[in-house]
Amino acid sequence: MNVGIIATGHIAEKAATTLAAMEGMQCLAVGSRSQEKAQAFAARFGIPRAYGSYAQLLADPDIQLVYVATPHSAHFEVTRDAILAGKPCLVEKSFMLNATEAATILALSREKGVFVAEAMWPRYMPVRKMGRELLESGIIGEPRMISATITYNVSDKERVQKPELGGGALLDLGVYVLNFVRMYADSPIERINTTCIRANTGVDATEVITMVLADGTVASVQASAWCQGDNVGVIAGTTGYLCFDDLIHPTHIRVCRKRHVVEKEIPVPPEFNGFEHQFLACKEAIEAGLIEAPQMSHAETLYIMHLMDRLRAEWGVRFPGE
Ligand SMILES: NC(=O)c1ccc[n+]([C@@H]2O[C@H](COP(=O)([O-])OP(=O)(O)OC[C@H]3O[C@@H](n4cnc5c(N)ncnc54)[C@H](OP(=O)(O)O)[C@@H]3O)[C@@H](O)[C@H]2O)c1
Repeated sequence: MNVGIIATGHIAEKAATTLAAMEGMQCLAVGSRSQEKAQAFAARFGIPRAYGSYAQLLADPDIQLVYVATPHSAHFEVTRDAILAGKPCLVEKSFMLNATEAATILALSREKGVFVAEAMWPRYMPVRKMGRELLESGIIGEPRMISATITYNVSDKERVQKPELGGGALLDLGVYVLNFVRMYADSPIERINTTCIRANTGVDATEVITMVLADGTVASVQASAWCQGDNVGVIAGTTGYLCFDDLIHPTHIRVCRKRHVVEKEIPVPPEFNGFEHQFLACKEAIEAGLIEAPQMSHAETLYIMHLMDRLRAEWGVRFPGE
């Protein structure tokens, strides 16, 4: 499958490195707002075609999957144009700026019969199945609490600072802890308490979100783009807890009893860098004629976008034009 990468930033580099190591998929082209940047990127990663506009990449008939790696503010336009060009898309998280944009894109995907998925990479990892199986086995009894923290000090990044680029901790990092909860708890969220500290640009810098699920599970999650923490995820049950050492990209899951006694440590299966699973999932879904990835359904992407709209509304965080 020939992939076209749109944009040449940090995560586009990771995608190019990943695709270069994969079998059955390759990065055929990169598109940038600048021809020079596209050429430099293509030279660095051995990519055959370099385009000086996103539109040129979308017009390449050989591209079979477009990976959208722009700031959040540009996801909508690029993805809309890609779907209109009949190109399946894998769009970096957060999928769109808000639920209105997300609903428009998902409706367009249905209307045109073109695949689109959100690149929420932990959703596609084998570790998710491992975690679910452990929970279903009853190894920690009945799950009662979920706690998860995601923090990176990325406060110097323009993309994170600026409201006009869809900045803030929630769309960059908070989206991971919300997905962590949704991946391991099926019950709908009934109540939310939340608070946030805003940066001087107006975006959310640090937030704490407590959710009560319909089955009584309490999920307490935190995100910050202004500090560096442990990024651990814990699911506590009546007889023990599961600990994910890194909730975005775990290397293992620990099953623990009281006083941190580790009963079992299950490593994740060998992998390249964890980023490959989402590309493989897209390939499988597209080859099966699907318009969504079973691992990150359209409904789930939209649920999370609505949740993030609700949180931002409580904090008074708005993007231009909203
Ligand atoms: N999955 C992960 O682990 C992960 C990690 C980090 C980020 N992300 C996600 O990936 C996306 C991009 O993040 P990033 O860290 O790669 O960002 P970045 O390093 O700032 O790169 C963004 C790229 O987007 C293009 N772009 C288009 N419009 C732009 C604008 N108005 N201002 C600046 N750049 C613009 C630029 O490429 P050209 O100039 O070549 O067009 C730029 O290099 C976001 O959705 C982010 O949440 C995911």
